[in-house]
Amino acid sequence: MKTIVLDPIADTTAVKRAAELLLAGEVVGMPTETVYGLAANALDEKAVKKIFEAKGRPQDNPLIVHIADVDALGQVSADVPEAARRLAKAYWPGPLTMVLPRAACIPDTVTAGLSTVGVRLPAHPLARALIRQAGVPIAAPSANRSGRPSTTTSAHVLADMDGRIPAILEGGPCQVGVESTIVSLTGDKPRLLRPGGISLEQLRAVLGEVEIDRALREQIGDDEKVSAPGMKYRHYAPKAPVIVVCGDPELTAAYIQKHLTNETGVLCFTEFAYLFEMHEMRTMGTASDPITQARRIFDALRSFDETNVQEIYTQCPDDEGIGLAVANRLKKAAGFQVVTVV
Ligand code: TXA
Ligand code: MG
Repeated sequence: MKTIVLDPIADTTAVKRAAELLLAGEVVGMPTETVYGLAANALDEKAVKKIFEAKGRPQDNPLIVHIADVDALGQVSADVPEAARRLAKAYWPGPLTMVLPRAACIPDTVTAGLSTVGVRLPAHPLARALIRQAGVPIAAPSANRSGRPSTTTSAHVLADMDGRIPAILEGGPCQVGVESTIVSLTGDKPRLLRPGGISLEQLRAVLGEVEIDRALREQIGDDEKVSAPGMKYRHYAPKAPVIVVCGDPELTAAYIQKHLTNETGVLCFTEFAYLFEMHEMRTMGTASDPITQARRIFDALRSFDETNVQEIYTQCPDDEGIGLAVANRLKKAAGFQVVTVV
């Protein structure tokens, strides 16, 4: 199979052609504002199975269902709580996924047999155009091969999926750069399952109290039960092992400098780049700019695979705003190998 890139700028039928592929039961690379997804018709179990095959994804890891209009929420969820309506009003379209009771029309393959479904209304205009044109809810995980860093450009999707899917819809580089925030609204209290483009502070502004799932802080064992099954797998990982160095940026830069060898890659805040110029070094934006860090981290992590580095040291933002999501992805890429410098 040859993978083609459908570019709506060069070809006005690109969205229509992508939608036709979806309705024919195929998997298509879909741009969103967070990361590129691997899209399939969520109501077509055979199509959804192709996503798992293309990614090499474990079957017990459920997929997020994407809709183009708030009205479709009632179609994919059996019971939409009032809190979900409030969150939708505040942050949709946008980088927020809500876990809700699932509707009967959503196949087991999508939810991995859970009684809940993750739902998101993306902000990227091409994602919404594609979902509207297809006229069905769209299941889509991030478009990386399972375990690899997520895909924030069509080139990343092509690198992981060439020959595995028929087409990618070109939508430019992703503006947010880390995946959606996942919040579960099915328990007693709202619970943050994955930090992302909508910050914890933003969630609390609408919901009041929000609990934080344990999996955000530590590695979960293989046989343990977790709220979002995806959280137990090693994720976002380049080939070389990653070590995350937390603490005051001046101190973490000094720590990394002290531990460098010729085979070390460094992912650092832009203001410290001059310290590492002789090494394989990538910058992620300044320490005070987690929005830029979010846009750059997956591309930076991926780029180390084209080098010979044997280990990667990275600085780490603090937990404020989208920094919580950036820190979470870096720690997961490191399998929670974290050094804190004080
Ligand atoms: O930004 C995003 O959310 C991107 C774009 C493409 O929309 N999608 C994405 O999907 O990140 P994926 O499959 O890479 O990550 C989805 C996460 C997994 O950790 C999965 O376990 C969790 O969402 N999840 C999905 N449905 C769930 C459910 N019903 N209950 C709990 N967790 C769920
Ligand atoms: Mg993913």
